[in-house]
Amino acid sequence: GIIHVINGPNLNMLGKREPEIYGALTLDQINEELKNRADALGLSLDFFQSNHEGEILDYIHVAFEQGPAGVIINPGALTHTSVALRDAISMLSCPIVEVHLSNIHKRETFRHTSMIAGIATGQLTGFGHYGYYMALDFLHSLAG
Ligand code: DQA
Repeated sequence: GIIHVINGPNLNMLGKREPEIYGALTLDQINEELKNRADALGLSLDFFQSNHEGEILDYIHVAFEQGPAGVIINPGALTHTSVALRDAISMLSCPIVEVHLSNIHKRETFRHTSMIAGIATGQLTGFGHYGYYMALDFLHSLAG
């Protein structure tokens, strides 16, 4: 099955966007490294980024029909606000790893709540781009 790597709003701006918080790598660079690692592990990835909540929901609906092997998702600010995204992810029966580059629990109070955490398999927050690679390693550990 396919592992979906989903990034939400403003994550297309990685590398330029508040690099002291989110790091210097672009999303393309992170995804390229993820792809290299997935190839080495024999896993297939599908990448998606959107600034539009509805497009992310549509993508998850298509993924649902395909029966994904896993999801790695950084929902960006939708983490803190979107019941609709939580409901969409709740449809999936595969493992879900929530990733944040920054540690949301040591930032502003409004970032401490995740709508997603309660329905995710687990949350990786504060490990920068390594969080994505850790998520992939975790999903690989299940596939084996
Ligand atoms: C983020 C944290 C969110 O609070 C923020 O809105 C983002 C990025 C992170 O990766 O650290 O857009 O998900």
